[in-house]
Amino acid sequence: METSSFGIAIMAAGKGTRLNSRRPKVLHEIGGQALLLHVIAAARSLVPPSQIYCIIGHQAEAVHAAAATTGVHFVLQPEQHGTGHAMQQLREHLAASNKAAPENFLVLSGDVPLIQPATLLALCNFHLAERAAMTILTAVPPNPTGYGRVLRTSGSAPEVQAIVEQKALTTDQLSAPEINSGIYCFRTSALFAHLDSLTPNNAHGELYLTDVAAQLVAHGERVVALRSAGPVEEVLGANTIEEMMHLDAAMRLSTARRLMAQGVTIFRPETSVIDATVQIGPDTVLQPFVQLLGNTRIGANCKIGSYNVLENTQLGDNVLIRPNCVIADTTIGDDVKLGPFCHLRPGSHIGPEAHIGNFVETKNARVGRGSKANHLAYLGDTTLGAYVNIGAGTITCNYDGERKHPTTIGNGAFVGSNSTLVAPVAIGDSAYVAAASCITEDVPAAALALGRSRQVTKPGWVSARKQSAPSAATGD
Ligand code: UD1
Ligand code: MG
Repeated sequence: METSSFGIAIMAAGKGTRLNSRRPKVLHEIGGQALLLHVIAAARSLVPPSQIYCIIGHQAEAVHAAAATTGVHFVLQPEQHGTGHAMQQLREHLAASNKAAPENFLVLSGDVPLIQPATLLALCNFHLAERAAMTILTAVPPNPTGYGRVLRTSGSAPEVQAIVEQKALTTDQLSAPEINSGIYCFRTSALFAHLDSLTPNNAHGELYLTDVAAQLVAHGERVVALRSAGPVEEVLGANTIEEMMHLDAAMRLSTARRLMAQGVTIFRPETSVIDATVQIGPDTVLQPFVQLLGNTRIGANCKIGSYNVLENTQLGDNVLIRPNCVIADTTIGDDVKLGPFCHLRPGSHIGPEAHIGNFVETKNARVGRGSKANHLAYLGDTTLGAYVNIGAGTITCNYDGERKHPTTIGNGAFVGSNSTLVAPVAIGDSAYVAAASCITEDVPAAALALGRSRQVTKPGWVSARKQSAPSAATGD
């Protein structure tokens, strides 16, 4: 295997000053996932986590907590004196652990999140084939400003003279188009031997890993560059919120493209916000401005209207969601019709062929096959059988101020409009609840329950009133 001689180091200790944020840079999210987790995922597709070393420092505890389950090693860089200093911490960590260092290191930046395994593999192969001490992954973006520039010995020769940081560029070098991606391969012995000669004589007063390139060249070592073959976004850094949002859009557009290639119709894909984890079956149609987040899976031939937000939600096939629903941690069966404007909260299970309509809220609710709650209802901690009809304005009163209580409604039951069902309460199969009832006791199967005062009608009341007090009818 090409990467068996490689360890992978991920530099993730920096603060991210240019973000103006309290959150460490590598925990900012694009595509629904922290920058660092994208980079670790790419690294893990090349080597096992036991060969990955993540260098953390700024808010190390939070960064560690976010990435702990990935199984990678963590190396502390308690003060952050630059990318060269980060590599010194790695060297010290390996020396202290008494483990033989891997022959080569692939070094990744925690803020270059779209990097793909195939590109990294090509870099490792090129590094080995060139027998180089250092191999730099480069790109030529439309605007190279802000990046370190890679200066080759001549034209397209693989050999590099040096990497020059933006602030150190001479007037002539300002137009140098080839950027350093912050991703490198090193022969470990060559890297570790030259880290101590780095000096902080630069604009940031830091030890730059990039200065190792010129050092190696001065010592007769081979330093080469490989221009990335992938789309340029793959190697761009996320140093500002604006740069991050650019990468987020690029990532989501590539997710949308993948889904469209799989038979999903996405109108105005640039308006949709779809996490890379989302799966969608063929012939499903997404109208503009849809958010599909987290572990959301959508079946085939569904139609998702505009302004729907679905998170960690599983849909069957042939589901129609009209616009403006908010749905989280919910499962939805085949042939269901939802919305517009429904709110399905965590723990909702909507059975096949059910209808949940406008201004209906469910929470921890099981709705059986073909049941309908079409207008203005709250179903909390509720189990509905099959083919139940919930009238407009029905409320399950599931909370007594201290605890939640369940409501169960049997198959084929009919709950009239504007009923309040005071839990715990059970309504039997095929039972009827009269409109505007307040139900506090269980209703047996096939019974009719009326929980309201009887209507009183007084014929001729208006004219009788006028005769007894004529001025009262003027409405003054
Ligand atoms: C760096 C490169 C630049 C390159 C760019 C690509 C240097 C000196 N410059 O610049 O040539 O074009 O990346 O994106 O390396 N970090 C640490 N410890 C530190 C400082 C930084 O772990 O002490 C980490 C950061 O968390 C970040 C990465 O190293 O993930 C790069 O640091 P950053 O400050 O973003 O460097 P750039 O200015 O982007
Ligand atoms: Mg950066």
